[in-house]
Amino acid sequence: MPNTNIAQFENPHEKAQYVRSMFDRISAKYDLMNRLMTFGQDIRWRKLAIAETGLSQQGTLLDLGCGTGDLAFDALKVDPNLVVAADFSIDMVRTGQLKKNGQTNLVFTAADGMALPFADNFFDAAATGFVMRNVANIDQFIAEMARVVRPGGRVVILEITPFDKPLLKPFYRFYFHSIVPLIGGIVAGDREAYTYLPKSVDIFLSADELKLRMEKAGMQPVNYQLLNMGTVALHTGVVV
Ligand SMILES: C[S@@+](CC[C@H](N)C(=O)[O-])C[C@H]1O[C@@H](n2cnc3c(N)ncnc32)[C@H](O)[C@@H]1O
Repeated sequence: MPNTNIAQFENPHEKAQYVRSMFDRISAKYDLMNRLMTFGQDIRWRKLAIAETGLSQQGTLLDLGCGTGDLAFDALKVDPNLVVAADFSIDMVRTGQLKKNGQTNLVFTAADGMALPFADNFFDAAATGFVMRNVANIDQFIAEMARVVRPGGRVVILEITPFDKPLLKPFYRFYFHSIVPLIGGIVAGDREAYTYLPKSVDIFLSADELKLRMEKAGMQPVNYQLLNMGTVALHTGVVV
């Protein structure tokens, strides 16, 4: 393991393998860690993300990189026709499935966002939460989301974004780079995964750059809002 930046990889294959096995490892404590790290704020961000999808009762939604399915479960509150929750970490999918409570309009499946097993234009919308930093090829992942959403449908991306407020940055960095790994070590038994997390944000695209990538994938318009004092970005693009 290189000690410079554990979120940097030699090649896309190495990154995908690392990410998948990391999420397999932390799947059982993933939800608890989210609540602790964000002081419960992640619940609100996901609700906003689902509202952005414009999902209706007749609608279909893909939750890509669903993890334990928290976005997908939020989407069910609209009582839509179908929500497909897909992830390439089998243990995250299994943990999500255990949270199901008889809902027949929610299907968990294993799938790689780089090559989705769904037909073009199949979904009314696609959402992805806290996944984009982890993918080996951002453009391909966005293109696949856009491909499976019908024209006029929305692609919604919720992600932590590099923080650039000079006065607050030292405090934020101390919390994110020192306290979060400590909590991750104690609660999830995996300090490494929660060291990777802030480092992956450090090298991730700015909100403006991510907007450009979505436009490049053929979405128009693309808009975003910043949440939590500018530490989280919520992008919405319309597929043309
Ligand atoms: C931080 S978790 C987010 C889980 C969930 N979306 C949430 O809001 O809590 C990132 C998830 O993305 C998944 N992931 C990363 N790359 C992926 C890919 N190429 N295809 C499918 N899932 C992927 C990981 O396995 C992991 O479960």
